Amino acid sequence: MATSTTRAVVLAAGKSSRFKTKKSKLLSSICGQEMILYPLHALEAHKIPITLILGHQAEEVEAAVVSAGMKDVSVILQAEQLGTGHAVLCSKDTWDADNILILYGDMPLLSKELIGQLLDEHEKSAAAVTLSTAYVLDPTGYGRVLERDGLIEIIEEKDCTSEQRLVNRINAGVYVMRRDFLESHITKLGKSSVTGEIYLPDLIAMASQENLGVKAISVPYDLVRGVNTLQDLWGVEQIKRSEFIKYWMAQGVRFELAQSIHIDINVTIGAGSFIGTGVHLLGNTSIGEECFVGAFTIIEDTIIAENTTIHSHSVVQHSIIGSNVHVGPFARLRQNVTVANDVQIGNFVEIKTATIGDSSKVKHLSYIGDATVGAGVNIGAGTVTCNYDGVKKSVTIIEDGAFVGSNNTLIAPIAVGKNAYTAAGSVVNTDVPADALAIGRTRQENKLGYAKKLRDAMKKDSAGGHIEKMKPISHDNDDEIIQFRGAVKTDPDQKIGFE
Ligand code: UD1
Ligand code: CA
Repeated sequence: MATSTTRAVVLAAGKSSRFKTKKSKLLSSICGQEMILYPLHALEAHKIPITLILGHQAEEVEAAVVSAGMKDVSVILQAEQLGTGHAVLCSKDTWDADNILILYGDMPLLSKELIGQLLDEHEKSAAAVTLSTAYVLDPTGYGRVLERDGLIEIIEEKDCTSEQRLVNRINAGVYVMRRDFLESHITKLGKSSVTGEIYLPDLIAMASQENLGVKAISVPYDLVRGVNTLQDLWGVEQIKRSEFIKYWMAQGVRFELAQSIHIDINVTIGAGSFIGTGVHLLGNTSIGEECFVGAFTIIEDTIIAENTTIHSHSVVQHSIIGSNVHVGPFARLRQNVTVANDVQIGNFVEIKTATIGDSSKVKHLSYIGDATVGAGVNIGAGTVTCNYDGVKKSVTIIEDGAFVGSNNTLIAPIAVGKNAYTAAGSVVNTDVPADALAIGRTRQENKLGYAKKLRDAMKKDSAGGHIEKMKPISHDNDDEIIQFRGAVKTDPDQKIGFE
């Protein structure tokens, strides 16, 4: 293959008007990657230098290409979108190779193998133009390929007669053209009398009529589908997604209800892993071997080691998780969480910007934010790190072996020392030394027999009794609790009794 003599011209300046969205369709995500990057990567695989023609939302499309780290891309602006023929003309100054490979940016399924095949065929035939065609049941939206008496031409759908519209051989939209032919003919393109646009495919009829050699290669439709509408986008993404799922199945991954799973292009999954119904695996996510991901869980930009279980309905983002870990169900890890091995994170636990050491447990209903939790730590149910005072975030440190009792409020900045213990229900606002027991709660007092007295009084009241005085219930004063009809009121400061 003579790639050294080829330059690619990729058309991406159009308005995407059939998408009916403000954003250029070329920025639409297909399995986590912008549409425009698919054909560009296929060209990059052949090391073909690229001229990218931009217009509508040029800056945004260029930014996507730059952030993908693509090299060897020259950008040309087509300020006014006058048609595909005009777009190619705009790139004239970059034609520095013998052959110009022209394709449209809205063909995300184009494979590097197909590009290679077209270049080979072009080389062999010495034609002025090599084009790709496909047969399709519903050719709506595509240019039709008409071949008669040895002449070949492409008629755009809007310019077709009703009879021509029935033709189901379409122009797939990838061409290889000899540069000399392109240079001598592109300025001869006229405007369509129907749409006023300058059509690139009109070059085919010119080459054919002048007997300069036109080679039409029939290619599989699924490799050249164009994306003009959101329906097309849906169809194309289904194909891409199935490709990835089939690939990972072949590597030993079990997908439960595979058609319900979303998987992005940069996801990797180890053999023996199980991916439940409705799971989304997004961004740069990597799942190790023998993992289990329960139904409806979302994992994004996260690395998970082997033998780990993420139970159903969990959301895990931007995290690194070790092996033999359990997360969820209904857990949320976000913004840079590092979890070591053998950790258990249970239901309704939220963890943000934190590290959790080996074999630690945060099993129920907790918020751990801006924290460093050591190894072998137990965090009791309902514990909250108070990391935010309305102005700044502060850090909580819980050292190895510490036991944080249930329903603790840890007011950061705070440190709980090695092997320390905090009593259930504590508000901890002073550092706890190693091996200490912290108790931060009011002392309990039992008023013997008081519940019965209270009940009796209430019963009497609901039977139409009068205001009565009862014995005080506070620890240390003699204020009286006064019972009214239908309600028991207390001194508001005591917060005891009913209202
Ligand atoms: C085009 C072909 C049609 C073919 C189909 C294959 C033309 C006139 N028609 O139709 O024969 O069957 O692709 O998918 O070429 N663009 C520009 N500048 C412009 C106009 C378009 O850069 O002035 C870009 C668009 O951003 C798009 C690509 O060219 O990425 C193709 O344009 P589009 O409008 O999608 O062409 P189709 O109508 O699909
Ligand atoms: Ca198109």
